[in-house]
Amino acid sequence: MSKKLDGKVALITGSGRGIGRSIAMKLAEDGARLVINDLDADPAQETVEAIKAMGGEAVACVGSVTAPDFSERFIGAAVEHFKGIDIIVNNAGYTWDNVIQKMTDEQWYAIMDCHLTAPFRILRAAQPVIRALSKAEMDGGVRKVRKVVNISSMAGVFGNVGQSNYSAAKAGIMGLTQALAKEWGRMNVTVNCVAFGLIKTRLTGSTAEGATTNIDGRDIKVGVNPGLLSMMEQTIPLGRGGTPEEAAGSVYLFCIPESDYVSGQTLICSGGLTGM
Ligand SMILES: NC(=O)c1ccc[n+]([C@@H]2O[C@H](COP(=O)([O-])OP(=O)(O)OC[C@H]3O[C@@H](n4cnc5c(N)ncnc54)[C@H](O)[C@@H]3O)[C@@H](O)[C@H]2O)c1
Repeated sequence: MSKKLDGKVALITGSGRGIGRSIAMKLAEDGARLVINDLDADPAQETVEAIKAMGGEAVACVGSVTAPDFSERFIGAAVEHFKGIDIIVNNAGYTWDNVIQKMTDEQWYAIMDCHLTAPFRILRAAQPVIRALSKAEMDGGVRKVRKVVNISSMAGVFGNVGQSNYSAAKAGIMGLTQALAKEWGRMNVTVNCVAFGLIKTRLTGSTAEGATTNIDGRDIKVGVNPGLLSMMEQTIPLGRGGTPEEAAGSVYLFCIPESDYVSGQTLICSGGLTGM
């Protein structure tokens, strides 16, 4: 039986771990060929191997999405290895929190660069490739729908204490989504956004576990205070944080043909939480 994403080429940033990895596995299970990215080479390669182990195809494009040459390398990897682009998921990210009076310019720009400027550059670099593919298909009388899914957060929809940088960037990606849905409709590209609530990953693990991520030479603490984490879970109507697989499921909805006429939308995946 043919799969819904058979042969599609999907590019996913930050897919070495967490939600990005689960999205990659979900799309690969449904037949997509993957360009895997992560800041860290080992987890990226591990995702590639996991996809190959189940009979799929994947290549890694390692490096920070904020590097000036990243977008060209990332789009180039898809064209070189798979001769096309069908799905782009802008997922890579981390948080670097502080109340506004203590937030440095460096903190502000680092989060803006990762969550907003990098997706903008990736999509800008993808445009000529998608335009050429779409034009050739339309000239041949074929309408092929492509998909962009940008990852936002409840912090972007409602704001969050200590996250003015992250909230602003995640609100910005919703604006970028809406603008591009209008610009790219004529190329048959749907552009949507998924805003997550609490999903249990390294990003939201307990700070007691002491995980850090090294971004551009800086060790940044990841995780949430355990007391706050359990309080957050109690406010969720479904009574728990989501799994990365559940998060991936909501992204998948925007990647399959059933959503071909949905564009410019933000889907909240939060276990029923409607505010913060
Ligand atoms: N987990 C949640 O509760 C939650 C909630 C709302 C939104 N989000 C968003 O979901 C996305 C995925 O987060 P996650 O929870 O899976 O986190 P995670 O830390 O488990 O995974 C994120 C991955 O992105 C990679 N990454 C970080 N910065 C990068 C960069 N500059 N270039 C390339 N790769 C980079 C990390 O190395 C990591 O492997 C992020 O955009 C995050 O803001 C997560």
